[in-house]
Amino acid sequence: MSIAAALPRPTFAVPAHGVPEALHRGQDDLPFVEFDHGVEMQVLQVDIPTGLWIVRMRMAPGTTLPTHKHTGEVYAFTIAGSWRYLEYPEVNVAGSYLYEPAGSVHTLHVPATNKEPTDVWFAIRGPNLNLDEDGNVSLVFDAAFVLSVYRSRCRKMGLAVPKVIGA
Ligand SMILES: [Fe+2]
Repeated sequence: MSIAAALPRPTFAVPAHGVPEALHRGQDDLPFVEFDHGVEMQVLQVDIPTGLWIVRMRMAPGTTLPTHKHTGEVYAFTIAGSWRYLEYPEVNVAGSYLYEPAGSVHTLHVPATNKEPTDVWFAIRGPNLNLDEDGNVSLVFDAAFVLSVYRSRCRKMGLAVPKVIGA
């Protein structure tokens, strides 16, 4: 096998021959696993060569995620619950769409008064940089990292290797 054949291929690459299949995942085909206290994640797709990672997150009422900076753009669609960035007044509810430009910095917060988990689909390009109180990078969260954490959480739960698209 050549080195090129061994490397992951971008999922958007058009094959030289044939017609590729659309890749379907039902809601229950990939497990939700706990990434952090009150935060469950389903990793739907990664594209390591282009840094794309697509996840669905379910967050408990009262969850606040670390302040982070995006090195690439983010597309977000809210399925249930509500949330906002502490830096902005707009509240995302079921049906809301949010675009986050590369370079944006914010802190995701789910109100403690919510009565249900907040369920959001995110497509993220490039690493997220978690920032500490002084603005220093405390954690780099990218496609490869999210995939490795997801796989290891699944393994610890005794689940089969998840069939993440692009992995
Ligand atoms: Fe963000």
